[in-house]
Amino acid sequence: MTETRTRVVSTLTRAYRLGLLVLSAPIVLGEFFDADTGADYGVAFTTKCRLVARMFWNNLRLPTGSSFVEHLVVATKILQIPPDEEGVVVECGCYLGGSTANLSLAAGLCDRPLVVFDSFEGMPEPDEADEAHVLLQSEQVHTYEAGSWHGSLSDVRRNVARYGDLDACEFEKGYFEETLPAFDRPVALAFLDVGLRGSAETCLEELWPRLRPEGYLFTHDVKHMEISSLFFDQQWWRDHLGRDAPGLVGAGSGVGLHPQRNGFGSLLGYVVKDPPLDSFETVEERGAGAYGDEMLGGNGDEMLSGNGDEMLGAADGSDASAGE
Ligand SMILES: C[S@@+](CC[C@H](N)C(=O)[O-])C[C@H]1O[C@@H](n2cnc3c(N)ncnc32)[C@H](O)[C@@H]1O
Repeated sequence: MTETRTRVVSTLTRAYRLGLLVLSAPIVLGEFFDADTGADYGVAFTTKCRLVARMFWNNLRLPTGSSFVEHLVVATKILQIPPDEEGVVVECGCYLGGSTANLSLAAGLCDRPLVVFDSFEGMPEPDEADEAHVLLQSEQVHTYEAGSWHGSLSDVRRNVARYGDLDACEFEKGYFEETLPAFDRPVALAFLDVGLRGSAETCLEELWPRLRPEGYLFTHDVKHMEISSLFFDQQWWRDHLGRDAPGLVGAGSGVGLHPQRNGFGSLLGYVVKDPPLDSFETVEERGAGAYGDEMLGGNGDEMLSGNGDEMLGAADGSDASAGE
């Protein structure tokens, strides 16, 4: 009886979260469906609908550590890159190609190569600081060992050929420490999903100087305090890139895409290189009201809570953030 009750509660919780996800889609995907997004590449509304359907389907079919909603957020920014801007799209960390397949569809629509970096042998040996990561928002500690998240190049190629756009992809096999220093192409957008602070450092050090001004760099590791903190580490940025730390949107809890235990969140965060501050709105903070309609509900009622799955939309219905 108790087991049946637990199953019913769990099913209702999942259904409720799925409902929330669907209801919040117009907000989350509003920018994707904006007529301007992709217009320069001739990507019409119907093409976007097909793209969403394919990405959703791919996410069900391919084992992946990320969700199709997260892929759509990145796809939106790929479709918004001005066509006359030089540069490839870079993905670091592809596992079995679930994110690669979806990003390749967006890159292909824009005739932009997607360059995929991975060892295709899984994680390198983590150094001491990377052996365990704290995910405060999820109340988890994640541990790593060499070879975890292994996806072979042939498996990734096969998955992308079947579910994505293989013609849009170029693969760079090897540890980032070996492959990235030899990479010398301009980067229009980067998506990092690398799990380890050491790997994230290498990616930033090598890719940031190649990223175009106003270019987006996404990380799918924002809940890992060890990685989020890197984007605020003034000393590291000054020593390695000769500039101030840029910060990170979504640090610690991710941009709010999926209904979760502690409110909306995800594993996705981003930073913009040299953002166009001139075009930003100036808000004079004089007291309440400064945030306009960004903060409905005044002092912010906490969202309804639950204790079911943390995240909907992972490939096999499992908790995508759990294995991250
Ligand atoms: C979390 S998985 C990527 C998940 C994938 N983006 C997805 O959504 O399914 C991390 C990937 O990063 C790769 N990786 C991590 N550190 C690396 C390094 N230093 N060099 C090469 N590959 C690395 C691993 O091989 C693994 O494929």
